[in-house]
Amino acid sequence: MAIYYNEENQTFHLQSVSMSYVIEITKYKHIAHVYWGRKIQAYHGANAILYRDRGFAANIDQEDRTYSLDTLPQEYPQYGIGDYRPCAYQIKTENQHTYSHLRYTGYEIIKGKPSLTGLPASFGDEEEVETLLLHTKDKVLGLCVDLQYSLYTRTNIMTRSVSFHSEKQTLHLQKMLSMSIDIRNDKFDLISMYGAHNNERNLDRRRLTSATTLIESTRGASSPQQNPFLILCNPLANEDYGDVYTFQFVYSGNFQASVHVDPYRNTRVQMGLQPFDCEWLLKKGESFQTPEVIMSYTPNGLTQMSHNLSQFYHIHLSRSKWTNKIRPILINNWEATYFAFDEDRLLTLAKEAQEVGVELFVLDDGWFKKRNTDCTSLGDWVVDKQKLPHGLSYISKNVHSLGMMFGIWFEPEMISVDSDVYRKHPEYVMQVEGREHIFCRNQLVLDLSNPEVCDYVIESIRKVLLSTEIEYVKWDMNRHLTNIGSLYLKEERQRECAHRYMLGLYHIMDTLTKEFKDVLFESCSSGGGRFDLGMLYYMPQIWTSDNTDAICRLKIQYASSYMFPNVALGAHVSTCPNHQVGRKTPLKTRADVAMCASLGYELSLQTLSKDEKKLIKEQIEFYKEIRETIQFGHLYRLHNPFEENITAFNMVSKDQKKCIVFYFKTLSEPAAPFVILKIKGLKEGILYQEQETKNIYDSSELMYAGISIENVKEDFISRVWHFKKVEGE
Ligand code: DGJ
Repeated sequence: MAIYYNEENQTFHLQSVSMSYVIEITKYKHIAHVYWGRKIQAYHGANAILYRDRGFAANIDQEDRTYSLDTLPQEYPQYGIGDYRPCAYQIKTENQHTYSHLRYTGYEIIKGKPSLTGLPASFGDEEEVETLLLHTKDKVLGLCVDLQYSLYTRTNIMTRSVSFHSEKQTLHLQKMLSMSIDIRNDKFDLISMYGAHNNERNLDRRRLTSATTLIESTRGASSPQQNPFLILCNPLANEDYGDVYTFQFVYSGNFQASVHVDPYRNTRVQMGLQPFDCEWLLKKGESFQTPEVIMSYTPNGLTQMSHNLSQFYHIHLSRSKWTNKIRPILINNWEATYFAFDEDRLLTLAKEAQEVGVELFVLDDGWFKKRNTDCTSLGDWVVDKQKLPHGLSYISKNVHSLGMMFGIWFEPEMISVDSDVYRKHPEYVMQVEGREHIFCRNQLVLDLSNPEVCDYVIESIRKVLLSTEIEYVKWDMNRHLTNIGSLYLKEERQRECAHRYMLGLYHIMDTLTKEFKDVLFESCSSGGGRFDLGMLYYMPQIWTSDNTDAICRLKIQYASSYMFPNVALGAHVSTCPNHQVGRKTPLKTRADVAMCASLGYELSLQTLSKDEKKLIKEQIEFYKEIRETIQFGHLYRLHNPFEENITAFNMVSKDQKKCIVFYFKTLSEPAAPFVILKIKGLKEGILYQEQETKNIYDSSELMYAGISIENVKEDFISRVWHFKKVEGE
């Protein structure tokens, strides 16, 4: 048992291995939040909620001026009955009223975790997860709202979502967040991630102030602009110390997360579907399920937070066969050729890649009919016989004969006006009737709220995947939504279009990833533009950023490691000068940065010197030796590129027998400080040998005295150490 109900004091205690979450049903049948944090052995209810008469506070009961929803810490606050803070949901009736008042009606505790129909969501068996359903109802409206809490008992992680059901009339859901929590404390830092294409996931850490902070997307995708991931932590929290709470949305479309501090110094955190320009019609008898939010807690700082999240995704969220499998080293032809390739160029690249030890050849954009620029052909997933006269299977067979796997690029959600599918089905485009299209990268978005369009996408991708042996798919998405409307949906459902787009996309991904379960899918949205758990559920790898510059990547990968496991981050070595920023960095540094994640190459090998190819061969051999530790070991962040001129990580294998240390210096500096790297996560009391120098170190020596770094008078340099436990010790 992990969820306890105490009838006497009407409380629910969700208790996992080292975390507790306590909810109380108040005497007026509202659901109050009592506690979230370190595990408490038992909750007796003595530290009850404080009630106080406050000015301007509206009262449910005229006789009790201390009870007001404006000051009650709540689990799912409502609008219009005296709580003036941001509400968690809002409805509108057919006669335009927005009043609703939910009261608790009962609960269920069930073993396991119910799946959320049509949505990606965490999973676990009955031994690992328990679920609490809190039923609430507005009897006048006939509106039933269930709050779902699933507690993963061996972790410090729980998930929340909400379902709405209308029993007797048509209602319009205007806001339907997945979670809300009121914490009676405002001494927090908020960490979020913002960015843009090629500059994703910058860390933003700020002290909470008495205002509402909104982190959101209205772009139709979770977006590079803001990530649906929030950290709330003790202002003193660092990698090794402090209370850390996280909130992460398992969804890839429009979202809203907010942190509101009220005048009594309470913090309200909320997350869910973006309410702006979104409405859902709930007819009598219909239900609506929100996506899920994953919430984690640790008292031990940011490293522990990342370890908990990584482990959770591996076991309970990413459902691919590949999730826990070693990832192949790939070569991608995009930056090597862009659209300008033919069979010879591709096969030469494949051959050269095979010679240096690459295991997977990925054919990127441009392989289908007339696709010589980005102006054309999206949606026509038929091979371009001019470029590839012998078809895809010729390339695939030749790649396989080199002993490599073969992968291919698609952008399934998009359509070009210059395409056969558009000429035949202009109604397949997401659009507002009678209004001009808005283009981005010369392309339009398919209306995935239309099941016929989803079938079309599934069929065309399926056909290609069945046509030859394909072991990897890169699933791209290179623009955001505009003209949000559908020629398929009825007028009354037009405002559902953006969410229905996501449901359609999830249906497509669900179908294809189940049918082609052996295929490694890597999601991509101009790189890391849709870097979220909705994607990770179907596709265990994400192309981290289109920016392949090693120095920019240090920050992007560093921040990404807060929330995603290393293995999920695609990282490629590209050419020099770099195509995105023009920087010249040594090949060693480029490779060392990419080796911190799932390694690939994306450059023309033909243009390289013999020495460079030899170096790449050595890099690949080295990565093969260390990749299990990199991909599935524990990551420790030692120096932060957002704050320092140096960046450092170390990864320790699960059995603690191996450790890899990466050190990067961005700029050469005068009067350079002495740098000593202190390794983390080693096993106490054992000896490690550094594999290149053969030097022996005691683990405590590495962790507490550290390794001294020689200053090199150059920019953009890197160093790597590989330690192995001395056997027989
Ligand atoms: C954007 C991706 O991020 C790139 O890697 C490449 O696949 C291009 N799209 C192709 O159009």
